[in-house]
Amino acid sequence: YNKHYFAMDIDPKRIYVGPGTKELIFNLLEILHGTVILPTPAWLGYLPQIRLLKKNFHMLPTQANQKITPSDLRKLALRLHDRQKILILNNPNNPTGLLYNRLELEEIADVCKEQSIAVISDEIYAQTTYDFSKFVSMGKIYPEGTFVTNGLSKSHAAGGYRLGYVIFPLHATDLKAQFKKILATEYTAVSTPIQYAAVKGFEISNEINEYFEITRNIHKIMGEYVYKELSKMEGVKVTKPEATFYLLADFNHYASDLQAMKINTSQKLSEALIVHPYHTAIVGGDSLVLERTDYSARIAYVDYDGVKVYENYQKKKPITDDDMIEFVRTNAPRIVAGIEMISKFFEKLKKDVVNLSSKRDSLSIQN
Ligand SMILES: Cc1ncc(COP(=O)(O)O)c(C=O)c1O
Repeated sequence: YNKHYFAMDIDPKRIYVGPGTKELIFNLLEILHGTVILPTPAWLGYLPQIRLLKKNFHMLPTQANQKITPSDLRKLALRLHDRQKILILNNPNNPTGLLYNRLELEEIADVCKEQSIAVISDEIYAQTTYDFSKFVSMGKIYPEGTFVTNGLSKSHAAGGYRLGYVIFPLHATDLKAQFKKILATEYTAVSTPIQYAAVKGFEISNEINEYFEITRNIHKIMGEYVYKELSKMEGVKVTKPEATFYLLADFNHYASDLQAMKINTSQKLSEALIVHPYHTAIVGGDSLVLERTDYSARIAYVDYDGVKVYENYQKKKPITDDDMIEFVRTNAPRIVAGIEMISKFFEKLKKDVVNLSSKRDSLSIQN
């Protein structure tokens, strides 16, 4: 599977399987020494693990919520005095949907070599890369210092099957022995029926290949729709996803209006959007390891009946831009409605703020 899709011919002795990458990442953090470098915004799973393990950590905020830069990484590493550091690199990225290209990875790897940084490369979204030829694993670029994690959850849409794997760096004999003991102590094994399912899932077949291609295309069509619609909103900055089924929308343009209406945190913004009449769920900034007052939010575009959408795609593949818009409208009406609701929410917010200040003005005149 790794050879076929990622051009990595890995000795099976370098691979450990566990009940999901979440658990495997936790176990890696358990055995690896040094301060953890966590780029933000981040998937909400890492920080609680780091805290539970009482590890030292440092955030590495990305500029304009995009990608980390080698120079920012170097600057931070120079401030840390541990012999080894650990970078959690999530590529492709949840929540931004962005992908690091080969050159960017090479530059990051150069800094990692220079500054003794081990990388946990969480590549759980690799197979969702819309143009799959663009995906490059950090395990290929920096094989001596990278722990690659991947699994069934996103590629096979089988998050409940709880199976992931980690590829250890070359020459990590002692760490592998230690890791094996932890896995044997904590899980014994992934349950047998799931192992059988995974064998099928990781087989190279036309059927699974077609499945990957179709699901990538569906994510891309939905992502482009959501990106275009949100970008039309005044002042909203949106990441342009190249993979995953998420993007990050920055609503900070409305910060003063939100505060005027007592929506003082990203959590409050999520709450304001989930209630009637909006019924729209977003993941707010504080759940993405951003400041509580950062009104950026992750927007997911998977709220549809996957089986039906898949069949409809097979029946009539959308080709033109109009076909694709039509495809989203017929197959994912809740996504269309959600985006409309976000737009309505901010329009109403602006009006409410104007009304509030004119009310205040008239009150002060009366007084
Ligand atoms: C970035 C990232 N890493 C890891 C995971 C967890 O994957 P698993 O189901 O293999 O534990 C998720 C799931 O949401 C994720 O978004």
